[in-house]
Amino acid sequence: MDGSPKQLRIGLAGLGNVGAGVFKNLLKNAELLHERTGAELRVVRVAVRDPDRKRDVDVPAEILTTSWRELVDDPEVDVVVELIGGVDDAFELISSALRAGKAVVTGNKAVLAERGKELVQLSEEQNAPLYCEAAVAGGIPIIKAVKEALVGNHIDSIYGIINGTSNYILTRMTAEGIAFEEALAEAQEKGYAEADPALDVNGWDAGHKAIILAWLSYGRWLHPDEVSVTGIEDVSLTDVAFAISLGYEIKLLGVVRKAPGNERIEVRVAPSLIPRDHILSSVDGVFNAVAVRGDVVGETLFYGSGAGQDATSSAVISDLADAAENLINGVGCTGFVPHGDFGQALPLADTVSGYYLRLGVADQPGVLAQIANITGRHGIGILSVVQPEPEAPAAHIPLVLLLHDASQGTVDAALAEILDLGAVQADHALLRVESLKS
Ligand SMILES: NC(=O)c1ccc[n+]([C@@H]2O[C@H](COP(=O)([O-])OP(=O)(O)OC[C@H]3O[C@@H](n4cnc5c(N)ncnc54)[C@H](OP(=O)(O)O)[C@@H]3O)[C@@H](O)[C@H]2O)c1
Repeated sequence: MDGSPKQLRIGLAGLGNVGAGVFKNLLKNAELLHERTGAELRVVRVAVRDPDRKRDVDVPAEILTTSWRELVDDPEVDVVVELIGGVDDAFELISSALRAGKAVVTGNKAVLAERGKELVQLSEEQNAPLYCEAAVAGGIPIIKAVKEALVGNHIDSIYGIINGTSNYILTRMTAEGIAFEEALAEAQEKGYAEADPALDVNGWDAGHKAIILAWLSYGRWLHPDEVSVTGIEDVSLTDVAFAISLGYEIKLLGVVRKAPGNERIEVRVAPSLIPRDHILSSVDGVFNAVAVRGDVVGETLFYGSGAGQDATSSAVISDLADAAENLINGVGCTGFVPHGDFGQALPLADTVSGYYLRLGVADQPGVLAQIANITGRHGIGILSVVQPEPEAPAAHIPLVLLLHDASQGTVDAALAEILDLGAVQADHALLRVESLKS
C-alpha cells in the first residue's frame, strides 16, 4: 500500500472465467469499494497464458504479461490473486508470492486440498495473509462464516451440496427422468460443466472443498487419501425413481463431522439419499447450499450460486477488500487459529449412516428371508422393503431395502455375503441415506 491516496495494487494471475469477472466487477463497483475500504482497488498487472486470446474484458496491453513471476517480483504489486487453477504452477505462484511478503487471494480448492498445510504454514511464517473465500461454494461466503461468524462454536457437522454441475445433473435426472449422459451434455452446453468435467462428476471438486471445510472446522488438513469420495457417474434413473418413491432425493453430499466424544473426523463425499422434506433437497440446479451445525448456534444454512463468473468474483473481491483493510491498518497474517487439531480421519469402514440397497433377485420364495438372515446376523436392521410387482414375468426382479444406521464396514461385510447367494445378481446399488439430524 503506497502513501495517499490509498491504493491496493493488484496483480491478477489468470483472466479466464473468474479472473475476467474480478477485473470487470472491480471496475463496475470501484466507487463502492473505495467508499467501503478507504482504498482504490486497482489491477496493475495481469498474467495470462495467451496474450492474443480474445477476451470479454478490455485489459490495457501494457499491463498484460505471460509470466506470473513478473507479478510476484513487481514491488508495485501489493496482493497477488491466483486464478490460474491446477496444482503445481498455482503452488509455485502462491508460495513465491507469500515468500515475497505479498498477500495472496486464491479461489483454487485443488491446490489448497493438496498443499494447503504447507501454504498456510508459509503464510504464517512470512506474515503474509492467504485468503480463499472463492475456493468453497463460489459466491456463498462460507469460509468467512465458519472462520469468523461461527468462531464461538465447536462445529458438530457440515452437510453441503457443493458442486453445481453434479447438482444440476441430479436435478435433471430427478425432475425430468433424463439419463446421466444426457444431463451432463446439457450441463456442458449451458456452460455449467468444465470442458473436462471429470473433477465435477467424479466427486473430487466437492472432495477438495470438503477438505478445506474440515480444516476450518477441526484444524486438520486431511490428505486426499484419507477422504472417501464417490462421484455421480453410476447413479441410475432406476435409483433416482426408487429414492423418490421412498420419500428421498439423491444429492451429491459432502459430509464433514465429528461424533461427540470421538476425536476422529469424518470427511466424505457421495451420492446420498436425503429426505425430501429436508430443506437441502430443495436445492436444485447449479445452486449450492451448506448446512452448518454449531454447538452454540444450532443449525444454520447458507445458500447461493456455487460457481460462475460474477458469483465467484464477488467472493474474490471480498478477500481483496479484507486485504486492503489489513494493509491500511498494517496488519499482516491475521493468524486464523482453527479450533483444535482432531487427530486422524475416521476410517471409512467406521463411518455410520443409513443405507439404500438395490438388488436384483430371483423371483422365487424365500430370498428375502435369506437376505434378512444375513443382515440380522450382522446386526443391521431393515427399515423398509420395496419389491415392485414385475410388469412381465422375469428371471430377476429388483428388491430395494432401506437399512438402519450401520457402519460401512458392517454393511460391506453383509453385502458380500448377500451377493454370494445364488438367487442374487451381482449388479446392485448401495447408497448412503443421510438423515441430516446431527
Ligand atoms: N469457474 C468457476 O465458477 C469457479 C468457481 C470457484 C472457483 N474457481 C476456481 O478459480 C480458478 C480459476 O477458474 P476459471 O474457471 O477462471 O479458469 P479458466 O477459465 O480456465 O481460466 C484460467 C486462466 O488462467 C490463465 N493461466 C493458466 N495457466 C497460467 C499460467 N501458467 N500463467 C499465467 N496464466 C495462466 C489462463 O490464461 P489464458 O486465458 O491465456 O488461457 C486463463 O486466463 C480455479 O482454481 C477454479 O477452481 C472457479
